[in-house]
Amino acid sequence: MAATDVLRKEDMSPEYREMIVQMMQSQAYRELAAAHMFGYGLRFVPDKWLKFMVWHIREEAEHYEAVARMYKEFTGEEVEPVVRERLGGKPVPMAESWMELAMAQFLYDRGGFWQLKEYEECSFVPYRGVIQKIVKEEAGHQNLGERIVVEQCRSGVYDDLKQPLFEKWLRIGLLSFGRPKTPGNRFAIDHGIKKRDSGECMKDFVADIRPAVGEAGLRFPEPSALKMELPSDVDWSV
Ligand SMILES: [Fe+2]
Ligand SMILES: [Fe+2]
Repeated sequence: MAATDVLRKEDMSPEYREMIVQMMQSQAYRELAAAHMFGYGLRFVPDKWLKFMVWHIREEAEHYEAVARMYKEFTGEEVEPVVRERLGGKPVPMAESWMELAMAQFLYDRGGFWQLKEYEECSFVPYRGVIQKIVKEEAGHQNLGERIVVEQCRSGVYDDLKQPLFEKWLRIGLLSFGRPKTPGNRFAIDHGIKKRDSGECMKDFVADIRPAVGEAGLRFPEPSALKMELPSDVDWSV
């Protein structure tokens, strides 16, 4: 089906409307979860990176607010109770050290970035506007997070810790994309809600982090060790 722009909910099928509502709920959850995780992690941040992390937390909170506003306009309801319930049922793991926070910054945050990029041309026009703004800001979080991880991994101090932490957060980052090849993926693509299947986004994400993985002296684990559905043709070389 050729995707056409949708401006008003009156022009949506119930399935399309339902998907938009779910997307906003998930996005609001993700943004607030990020703010909580980085906020919790502030205790581990050395002075040198304090301003950066505070700025990052603030931006995640603002992303949450932007999605919450859009949700309110669209549904007439608050997203907060939905997000609270989801955060209660499915809390994001919190980073428990500076090294782990850097991994989370590198992998969880960047997974979110690549996931959102699939929606920047979303056929629902109001969603597209908000997503484009968030994507632009997320792009700004990336270089520093990567630099911190590479710097710490190369210091030699974290040689025992770095690979397990990498694998833990790689999995969490990859989970941002949702399962590949589901009927929901198909529906979203057919209706121009997102560009491509989750599996394709996973491949972009892996390609994007590959240089830093190499520089940090890390390696991708056996795909089966990640215990999740993955496309069979991901290039896991470093
Ligand atoms: Fe964000
Ligand atoms: Fe971010």
